[in-house]
Amino acid sequence: MSADNAAVSPPVTLRPATEHDNDPLETLLKDAGVQQQTLLINSGDAEKLPHYLEDFDAGWRQGLTGWVIGPENVEGFFGIVVLRRLSPHTAGLSCVIAPEARGNGIARRACHAAATFAFDALNITRLEARVRTDDHVGRLLALRLGFAPEGVARAAAGEPDDPSDVWTAGLLAGELAGPSSEPDGYALARTRAGQLLEPQPVLPTAIPQLRLRPLTEADIDPLTQACQDPQTARWTTVPQPYTRDHSVGFVRDIARKGWSTGTTAIFAIADNDGYCGTIDLRMDLADPLVAEIGYNSAPWARNRGYMTHAVRTITRYAFESFGFLRVEWRALVGNDASRRVAQKAGFTIEGVARCETQHRDERPDFWIGAIVRGDSVG
Ligand SMILES: CC(C)(COP(=O)(O)OP(=O)(O)OC[C@H]1O[C@@H](n2cnc3c(N)ncnc32)[C@H](O)[C@@H]1OP(=O)(O)O)[C@@H](O)C(=O)NCCC(=O)NCCS
Repeated sequence: MSADNAAVSPPVTLRPATEHDNDPLETLLKDAGVQQQTLLINSGDAEKLPHYLEDFDAGWRQGLTGWVIGPENVEGFFGIVVLRRLSPHTAGLSCVIAPEARGNGIARRACHAAATFAFDALNITRLEARVRTDDHVGRLLALRLGFAPEGVARAAAGEPDDPSDVWTAGLLAGELAGPSSEPDGYALARTRAGQLLEPQPVLPTAIPQLRLRPLTEADIDPLTQACQDPQTARWTTVPQPYTRDHSVGFVRDIARKGWSTGTTAIFAIADNDGYCGTIDLRMDLADPLVAEIGYNSAPWARNRGYMTHAVRTITRYAFESFGFLRVEWRALVGNDASRRVAQKAGFTIEGVARCETQHRDERPDFWIGAIVRGDSVG
């Protein structure tokens, strides 16, 4: 193996570490955000890494090596790019950029150069990216390089009492995207990441006092009360019996993670008196152009047209802010109130999907409907 690890890609250079890198490297590796986000470097590795960045071959023999990323022709430190050997011909690729150097395409250029080196000089046939599901920037970087999503490993990072799911993706030799090309679907992924990196918004509806907003602690008790409703138990899969702990978990964990990981946008429907129901947009279906809505009105807020307005609002939001093409609705056959809401909001009932989805202990038939971009939203 060659010890010449100075693979160059303007305007960045990948080079061995020198003594000038010790301070910025230490700062970077001790940064709490970096430690949380970077999955290929654990604390034991962090101590050895500076030496392995000085001596590529020694590091590669130990299974973890890489380069300092710097500017071309002048001294400076942008970050590091690291390869971890996973098997004789596969490696993990990861990159950490100093906070002040982010947002300039440095990671993309550095990873592109490192991936090229791995395929061409190290005979690597597969590179792997592992990114926490709430790390939208890391995911975008992998997609931009041409990595293909391969799945989510549950609870694969983080602390035992607060684990994180990890998105994994693979890049085979020959699949590396050109440094300035955008793979299919990348523009959509960037639009979505842009939304998810911001706090979950408050969405106004056509009824002045009615809005969709993130769930808060104040919703825990009314949500618990609403979920005692027999209609909710009959037509949805909310746990039965429904306790306050369910509500606490829903507000603090499920709804928060739904937004931070981009799997589901869950909103409280609220008027001036407070909680009136929930509505959610599932965004993690197999097809990136298709989302699905689900909803529940609190019994005290029904038949006021609130849910119809909430569905119109979230549907527009799905089209305009997230770029979905089709939003689906499903309800157990016989749930006439839900069907009425969907139709008033512009959904077309498309038919009955037989035995389609598990519902408690059964596999019943579901009505399925959808609204597609360009349809009139009610
Ligand atoms: C379905 C549900 C969300 C509707 O909420 P809502 O706030 O009452 O909705 P809206 O006020 O916007 O509209 C209700 C519409 O349904 C109609 N409706 C209510 N009960 C009905 C029934 N049994 N059969 C037919 N239509 C019914 C109302 O008349 C109204 O239509 P209209 O404006 O044409 O008169 C609410 O009933 C609910 O939470 N049910 C339990 C949970 C549930 O089924 N969730 C949906 C799972 S797919």
